[in-house]
Amino acid sequence: MGARRRSVLEGTTERSAYTGPPKDSSAGPGRKQRRQVTEAILLVGGKGTRLRPLTVNTPKPMVRAAGVPFLTHQLARAKAAGVEHIVLATSYLAEVFEPYFGDGSALGLHLEYVTEEEPLGTGGAIRNVASRLHSGPDEPVLIFNGDILTGLDIGALVRTHETTGADVSLHLTKVTDPRAYGLVPTDDAGRVLAFLEKPQTPEEIVTDQINAGAYVFRRSVIDTIPAGRPVSVERETFPELLATGAHLQGMVDSTYWLDLGTPAAFVRGSADLVLGRAPSPAIPGRCGDRLVLPTAQVAPGAKLAGGTVVGEGAFVAEGARVFGSTILPGAVIEPGVLITDSLIGTGARVGTRSVLADTVIGDGAVIGADNELRSGARIWCDAQIPPAALRFSSDT
Ligand code: GDD
Ligand code: MG
Repeated sequence: MGARRRSVLEGTTERSAYTGPPKDSSAGPGRKQRRQVTEAILLVGGKGTRLRPLTVNTPKPMVRAAGVPFLTHQLARAKAAGVEHIVLATSYLAEVFEPYFGDGSALGLHLEYVTEEEPLGTGGAIRNVASRLHSGPDEPVLIFNGDILTGLDIGALVRTHETTGADVSLHLTKVTDPRAYGLVPTDDAGRVLAFLEKPQTPEEIVTDQINAGAYVFRRSVIDTIPAGRPVSVERETFPELLATGAHLQGMVDSTYWLDLGTPAAFVRGSADLVLGRAPSPAIPGRCGDRLVLPTAQVAPGAKLAGGTVVGEGAFVAEGARVFGSTILPGAVIEPGVLITDSLIGTGARVGTRSVLADTVIGDGAVIGADNELRSGARIWCDAQIPPAALRFSSDT
């Protein structure tokens, strides 16, 4: 990804040449849109508790998916949709974002960072960065949760916002089990009727439509969120806006969507990026069965498939088979190892003939030879598992 800065003037000229409706619903790189939002807020301050030990040393948006910090994919997609200025609302491990992304010029963006002294929650984080926005009171501002991998047509969400005249527009998606999300029932015209965050009782499960974590806010609505205290946009701001008669508009877009909040989802998301099932302009290589980063070494007799990524400086030895998995930089996979749907942390080592499925190995951990780890096992950073210590079956 080279620095491809485009001036606002050039962007405007390009957009004014637009003559017809979009041909499809996927926002790809270089896609031209009739109207664009040029500012966005990215919420990247969560602790990523459910992803531990992946998030012990690294905040969730900085964990590598398909070879680059996950946030890179979101930034690149926002850029492709015409966004120019992004404010990152940081809190947990805030210090790692700016050294990596700097002022954003390598991505053709202008990035700013605002760190909360104490976590302010999603709404508090949005309010806390308001002073950095340049948009006028009636102009739209995009807001993204920092852990969503999606093919959302960002331009279509903005157009929905404009044509309906909403105060806030939300991307909605449908899921089979909505309990871990915010439920958003709408009327026939897509107007939001209620917002039920993480429903507790069966009676509360009134819809399979959930908040997909991307919003367009009228700038003046951001300024109404109370400042200087924690606020949940889902539990407080949205219900209060509805109670006061504000217009919240939902747009159901059933394209690829995944919240990368759990290890299984993170591993799936990375593999889908490598396979090209999840769209991103930021994949550092060609999409396909595997992605091997420069300086990684893979022995000729090793097999990689199913969207496996091997990070910089990692080593996969002879006879190892790795499917649908993420091998982070500097990790070592010894001969004859079988890894499926797992993530191997930075600098970790997996010993000869070990079998891993649905497992996360923390940074620097060492798994001795002949272990078997399955079913959501999480090995903590720097832990050491002796050879042949753990099995899920009696065979060897
Ligand atoms: N700056 C900052 N400060 N960011 C925060 C804070 C905070 O105190 N708390 C959470 N975030 C960020 C997280 O980093 C993440 O990017 C986003 O806000 C959402 O937080 P999650 O912890 O991932 O929430 P969730 O997945 O349980 O639920 C949210 O996302 C669902 C979709 O995946 C809600 O918005 C649900 O309504 C939604 O359905
Ligand atoms: Mg989440």
